[in-house]
Amino acid sequence: MDVDTGIDDSLGLLYLLASPQAEILGIASTAGNVPAPQVAANNLALLDLCRAPDIEITLGAEQPLAIPLRTTEDTHGPQGVGYAEFPPSRRTLSARSAAHMWVDLVREHPGEIVGLCTGPLTNLALALRLEPQLPQLLRRLVVMGGAFNHPGNTTPTNEWNVHVDPEAWKEVFDAFSAAPADRRPLVCALDITETIEMHPHHLIRLAERADSVPRQEVSESDTPGTRSKASNPIVRYLTDAVRFYFEFHRQYDQGYLAHMHDPFAAAVALDPGLATTRPATIDVELGGTITRGTTVADWARMWHREPNADIVIGTDPAEFFDRLIARVGDFAREVYPAGQ
Ligand code: BDR
Ligand code: CA
Repeated sequence: MDVDTGIDDSLGLLYLLASPQAEILGIASTAGNVPAPQVAANNLALLDLCRAPDIEITLGAEQPLAIPLRTTEDTHGPQGVGYAEFPPSRRTLSARSAAHMWVDLVREHPGEIVGLCTGPLTNLALALRLEPQLPQLLRRLVVMGGAFNHPGNTTPTNEWNVHVDPEAWKEVFDAFSAAPADRRPLVCALDITETIEMHPHHLIRLAERADSVPRQEVSESDTPGTRSKASNPIVRYLTDAVRFYFEFHRQYDQGYLAHMHDPFAAAVALDPGLATTRPATIDVELGGTITRGTTVADWARMWHREPNADIVIGTDPAEFFDRLIARVGDFAREVYPAGQ
């Protein structure tokens, strides 16, 4: 996993920790929503919260490839996890860099690893510079990012993960044009992830499944910043984190809901059957006076270049939420059986 945790990144991590089919080999902490050291601290603390075994967590580059870092605490909260606050973890970060972890892992497990990127692609681009064969060594890459036939969420045409480091996106998708058709990256862009709307009723169902009380904690009429009293610590975390995301989306006139971009990508990484896809050649605008960072998909081979991505064009959001609620709800109950 390569993440910029991030409220929705943290739900993606929870989804995979809660899925017995997934084995997380390493987590790269990439600068994006918050600076890389804060991302790393959040990842360590999430493992504590989930009483997870030690999973390697590496620190990524502190800056994008070619431009200064921009972070977005207004979207994800001062620490990147909404209203949640973590005590410092006693776990330690790996001694190797995020890029070296990528390279070492794919060399150790050729053809076996699914890479899931839910942040900017800075560290994956750095890894590709170290190991140009990486696209052939991975089983599959799944990326959350981009906006194709859809407006951006950062500028009128830019999606956040691309906006933070467009050069990295360019390097990664240029490199993946060498991947065989069955190993093309699966791309979950805003076109699909903005259909994955979490509402307060999803949190209620999750609390029920986890046997956490009180069941109903979040409502549109609450005072902003109300803190959770959930008996289950994982439900408490989720409620405090997601409440911030609900309030952020409402502030931008999208309703009292939150787009679950990254958990959806995590679910697709585990089960591509959740998504229907269409091949395309994708590229990123690096010039432009108002369009820098815009992702473009050539669906019709007008560029006469081989497809370098399978873009997700359809899914069943209700099925995704059923899986999220069942997995994370059961996991929360198992990790804290007495709700403690
Ligand atoms: C992406 O941007 C980030 O803020 C989210 O974590 C997600 O990965 C959506 O554009
Ligand atoms: Ca993210």
